[in-house]
Amino acid sequence: MVPNGREAVSPETLLQIRNLKTYFQLPEGLVRAVDGVDLEINRGQILGVVGESGCGKSMTAMSIMRIIPPPGEIIEGEILFHGYVNQDATNLQEVVDLASFQPNDRRVRAIRGNQISMVFQEPMTALSPVRTVGSQITEAITLHRQVNKVEAREIAADMLDRVGMSNPGDRLNDYPFQLSGGMRQRAVIAMALSCQPQLLIADEPTTALDVTTEAQILDLMRDLQAELGMAILLITHNLGVVAEMADEVAVMYLGKVVEQTDVDSIFYAPKHPYTKGLLSSIPKLEDALHGDRKKLQTIEGMVPSPYHQLSGCSFHPRCSEFIAGVCDRVEPALIQLEEGHSVRCHLYA
Ligand SMILES: Nc1ncnc2c1ncn2[C@@H]1O[C@H](COP(=O)(O)OP(=O)(O)OP(=O)(O)O)[C@@H](O)[C@H]1O
Ligand SMILES: [Mg+2]
Repeated sequence: MVPNGREAVSPETLLQIRNLKTYFQLPEGLVRAVDGVDLEINRGQILGVVGESGCGKSMTAMSIMRIIPPPGEIIEGEILFHGYVNQDATNLQEVVDLASFQPNDRRVRAIRGNQISMVFQEPMTALSPVRTVGSQITEAITLHRQVNKVEAREIAADMLDRVGMSNPGDRLNDYPFQLSGGMRQRAVIAMALSCQPQLLIADEPTTALDVTTEAQILDLMRDLQAELGMAILLITHNLGVVAEMADEVAVMYLGKVVEQTDVDSIFYAPKHPYTKGLLSSIPKLEDALHGDRKKLQTIEGMVPSPYHQLSGCSFHPRCSEFIAGVCDRVEPALIQLEEGHSVRCHLYA
């Protein structure tokens, strides 16, 4: 991959992130939250992003949306968005590098909440507690679409209907506190989809919900994805959710994508030792049934302190296939193993 080259891209490509670095300069030191992320998402695809806590999943999402909390900022890299300018997805806009503008630039605001929208773990992050659900969704619609208030309310009611809320016309008048957690998350999804985004970013959208509601919300997201054709960047801790939902998977470790490929290859032919470790940490049903907790493997060691930069491959202190003199000295590049399978590991160089 040429870092700054403009090689021919497939018409399927929707978003390309290249060498993205988002750092926080704190009094305690420099946190490299995102430290050279490379990612690709195709149109209409569900990309699962997995990795242990603190590896930079949320900061990658917030970098795309340009909503990084201060003092965090993008210091390097590209976020190339190949969107359409019109709603019927025929007229391709010029490629926009979202990383190259100020967070509040007109071109970013035109895309954020419109062509790219986001759903958070906690629905109240996106909803104001003091305004009705209807006024919040219609505002999101009128901000980006050329419709009047009455039309916007009709679109809002239609979206609430699509996300499975009964009596959507009445629900528009509800305040968020009048809805259950699952219904609030449905309302947030309705709001996020009301402008027909080409990319929906969902950051642990079901982690705060019980398992039954989680299953319903995931079903809903998959149905809406099939119906509306948007791509979804789905951030989750849960490999079961990935297996069920994702077409493609990106595995992150310490601010970098260490492996990206299709969902079957991740589960049946993982290459990176970190990916293998994550997979072997899934408890097997038969072991759990026999109460055999010893078999439950986890990856050895802990995620190192974010202030400390490791030389070589950042996974080397925990890696079972560590090669002394190489892995602790040289940073591995992201290499293409075969069509559509990339890995950042010296074992394959
Ligand atoms: N507001 C902030 N100020 C300073 N550092 C931050 C801030 N938000 C995140 N970080 C740091 O950036 C790194 C990446 O965090 P991020 O929230 O992206 O992780 P994550 O993969 O989403 O984790 P989780 O699975 O727990 O949600 C971590 O080291 C974290 O401590
Ligand atoms: Mg997170």
